[in-house]
Amino acid sequence: MHRPALSQRRHCLRLLAACTYAGTPLYSHARARMTIRLSHVVAQETPKGLALQRFAELVAHRSEGSIQVQIFPDSQLYGDNDEVQALQFGAVDMLAPSVSKFGRIGFDEFEVFSLPFVFDHLRDAHRVTQGELGQQLLERLSQQRLVGLGFLDNGFKHMSANRPVLSPIDLRGLRMRIQASWVIAEQMRVLGARPIALPFDETRTALSARVVDGTENTTSNFWTQRMDAVQSDLSLTQHGYLGYAVIANERFWRNIPASERALIHQALVDALQWGNAIADSQNEAALVALRAAKTSRIHTLSAAQRTRFREAVWPVYAALAKRIGASWVDAVKAL
Ligand code: SIN
Repeated sequence: MHRPALSQRRHCLRLLAACTYAGTPLYSHARARMTIRLSHVVAQETPKGLALQRFAELVAHRSEGSIQVQIFPDSQLYGDNDEVQALQFGAVDMLAPSVSKFGRIGFDEFEVFSLPFVFDHLRDAHRVTQGELGQQLLERLSQQRLVGLGFLDNGFKHMSANRPVLSPIDLRGLRMRIQASWVIAEQMRVLGARPIALPFDETRTALSARVVDGTENTTSNFWTQRMDAVQSDLSLTQHGYLGYAVIANERFWRNIPASERALIHQALVDALQWGNAIADSQNEAALVALRAAKTSRIHTLSAAQRTRFREAVWPVYAALAKRIGASWVDAVKAL
């Protein structure tokens, strides 16, 4: 699986986005009547990067080039700390943040996705994301003038560190980089680790500088961010789900003429369905690439070892139920 060079071109790209916004579309977007600016934080060659690229292609094709989606991947434009604000200010039009990052912007109910071992397979996650509960979660976003347009899978997270993590005891005392999620922080605390929330684009540097000792992520993110070069061990704990909610600035979305909005929405629905279908195989390909690279040692856990983790994190469920009300946690568990 190919991985691109890491880049830091945020300032130049913000200028580029601003020019496009001011009605001065540049290069390939020169003939488009509308350009949608979509920012995200991961590499192009990931389940999210590929699905959003597919979205852009479908929109361009179905609108015969009159609508373009301009994608800014890899935190080139905005990172975890400023992307939602940029969306609310209209500096970009669409985002696809991890569902684990919605709690900190006021949507605590999204934390159910981050509960450890809440889903065994992606099809279990779909019972939430493609059902009534997922719809309710998306609708809540209107409280902050955001439009929730759909969910997208990445896959299951694993633990990495400079030691194997085969039992909760192996995490004791480790500083673990996490997404800004209350539940993930709680998960790390009950496992004896010290959670440190950092933006995604700072993670590799923090690992390299030993500001943190380890992290959790999917193999596609681990591989494309070259975390294998700075972590000696990747343990396939498969303990947590990583997915995304695609969101738009409400004013931008409502201002699109109805027929074009329908075209864009359908293209997104189709792209997300396609993305969900390839997510597993993308993570599998990243694992194959990681094995071939031999930069990190890869450990597979036995069923008994995973059970020890599962039992150790059980208190997180009660803690979240106390925080957001038992009904959300029970509803997800019941599906
Ligand atoms: C992402 O996949 O969008 C980033 C997840 C992370 O921050 O770990």
